[in-house]
Amino acid sequence: MDFLPEDLTDYIELHCEPEPELLKELARETYAKVLMPRMLSGHLQGRVLSLFSRMIRPRLILEIGTFTGYSAICLAEGLQPGGSLHTIDINDELAPMVRRYLSQSEKADSIHCYWGNALEIIPGIDAEFDLVFIDADKINYQKYYELALPKLRVGGWIIADNVLWSGKILDKPIKMDADTLALYKFNDFLRNDQRVKSVLVPVRDGLMVAQKR
Ligand SMILES: C[S@@+](CC[C@H](N)C(=O)[O-])C[C@H]1O[C@@H](n2cnc3c(N)ncnc32)[C@H](O)[C@@H]1O
Repeated sequence: MDFLPEDLTDYIELHCEPEPELLKELARETYAKVLMPRMLSGHLQGRVLSLFSRMIRPRLILEIGTFTGYSAICLAEGLQPGGSLHTIDINDELAPMVRRYLSQSEKADSIHCYWGNALEIIPGIDAEFDLVFIDADKINYQKYYELALPKLRVGGWIIADNVLWSGKILDKPIKMDADTLALYKFNDFLRNDQRVKSVLVPVRDGLMVAQKR
């Protein structure tokens, strides 16, 4: 969810680089045809992910939660020449649409899709990542984090989406549903995790940005 009023979001987006045409089209088709289209990162968060990636200049990126490919295209914008992005999603019904859009992106040859459960796929990827984006089922965030951290280079970055969970993160733990409680525990865990330095960035639904020490 967006915490800012719509007119302020419009103003911010007007003062960001414009949303690339391919991503506009991808967002339009996602909203027209796919269930739960609000899962897509969208203009502002997409540009922030692209910005982070262009600042980090990663050689290898891992994304957990492809959905229709919007954030993958944004993150790939910052890849070093010869670098690659590996993205995983459990819902292979999305594969034809994802393929159609990724193939039109500038980094088409650098993006590799995996279809299946990320919990099973990540251990089989033998790589040292510079950037990991966690954006799949909330209940498993902690597990994705623990699987990804050993595969992240020292100084590398983990970004986790939706950590404010529409503000539900402020509810009393006893009243929380399972997803909210998982995010609540994840945020608290990171605050005390000496393996990383983290900042909760209040973009859209909250991005936890953590750097491996
Ligand atoms: C919030 S969406 C991702 C949005 C996308 N990153 C974007 O910004 O456009 C979450 C995705 O995680 C996928 N997912 C859920 N559980 C998963 C799992 N265990 N392994 C891999 N993908 C999973 C869902 O199918 C869904 O497409």
